[in-house]
Amino acid sequence: MCDQRSPPGLAGTSHTMRRRTRNLLGALVLAVVATGVSAATTLRDAAEGLVPMGAALNLGYLTSDATYNSTAAAQYSLLTAENECKWSATEPSQGVFTFDDCDALWHFAQANGMWFRGHNLCWGSYNPAWLEALTPDEKRDALVDHVATVAARYDANVLAWDVVNEAISDSATGADPALKNSTWYPDVPDFVDVAFQTAREACPTCKLFYNDYSIASSQGWSSDKSDAVYALVSDMLARGIPIDGVGFQLHIAVDYGLVDGVAANMARLAALGLEVHVTELDVACGSAPDHDCTWTDAIAEAQADLYGQLLEACLDQPACTNFETWGFTDKYSWLDAQDGSPQHPLPFDEDYVTKDAFDTMVGVLEAAQEAHRPAA
Ligand code: G3I
Repeated sequence: MCDQRSPPGLAGTSHTMRRRTRNLLGALVLAVVATGVSAATTLRDAAEGLVPMGAALNLGYLTSDATYNSTAAAQYSLLTAENECKWSATEPSQGVFTFDDCDALWHFAQANGMWFRGHNLCWGSYNPAWLEALTPDEKRDALVDHVATVAARYDANVLAWDVVNEAISDSATGADPALKNSTWYPDVPDFVDVAFQTAREACPTCKLFYNDYSIASSQGWSSDKSDAVYALVSDMLARGIPIDGVGFQLHIAVDYGLVDGVAANMARLAALGLEVHVTELDVACGSAPDHDCTWTDAIAEAQADLYGQLLEACLDQPACTNFETWGFTDKYSWLDAQDGSPQHPLPFDEDYVTKDAFDTMVGVLEAAQEAHRPAA
């Protein structure tokens, strides 16, 4: 089993190797982007020594689409199973654990020298029907059993686990970090504590994360929910509940204007001693409420700018230790299962051709490498 910081092929890569000098970086990014990027550059090569570059992968596409498989392996140094490690996949009947699909993703990561990020141990949605039917006491027991079994199986061979996913109410605030009604709440009111404590007991060396959407920026429209998560994790730390980090999903659209707030939020979580992972980034073409999209060069550039700015924010923050998109090709995005036009949210188009977003991210990474290269 590999060391979680140095999977096969990535030996020597460590977050502590990351070097950041933002003032130099901005100028260098412009220079690199203006002159283009080297043709054969991959995201994982460009990011080596800086940060894992991740993507959520789907076993169905890995086995049915050879280009999806080879592109994922070539471009990314980290993967998350899009659905294969969720409760419905790993415990479809109570006490009957089915790890084949989650294992398959884990083995793909090992075979290709990638980190593996676990998603997720406890979520209030998309759970099997048997779980919903339990009494509150039975749910608590089922939670402990599930978290203990799954966390122990993969042990320390994951970069991190999303222990609890999306627990905070969309109307929560810092003063009132209310939990949303779900499988778990209000039936098991302390389920967040139970999940994290159980995960720590089952895997003392696992990095344990709270993961959510609309919590990335401490400024603007998401500030209330971001403050609520800040209050939640501050309280957990104060009470000795084990937690190592917060995952920013970052399902956003091209009109997202809160990158400074993301950097500020990363900084305040880092000041608590927590890590931050960008876990599910995608940048939709159309915005709420109708998500209509006409894909143009201008939209592609705006999308690329956002990818680049968020990657810079991560590279500038030592506590930001993963940069990951939810999928990687516009051929397959969860967003296109929603209503509305195709959203073109990812760095590769539907034919696996790199987009402006890819070029800009490589430019940011190459500039970061250049900024920290020892003078000749
Ligand atoms: O596999 C079945 C297929 O057999 C069936 O015909 C079809 C009919 O609807 O459903 C298929 O399962 C779907 C599965 O995705 C695989 O495509 C489920 O219905 C569908 O609910 C499931 O959606 C996933 C969703 O989480 C719920 O688990 C999305 O793929 C996945 O991208 C999404 O990921 C979430 C993160 O876990 C948490 N953050 C938000 C993110 C996006 O919603």
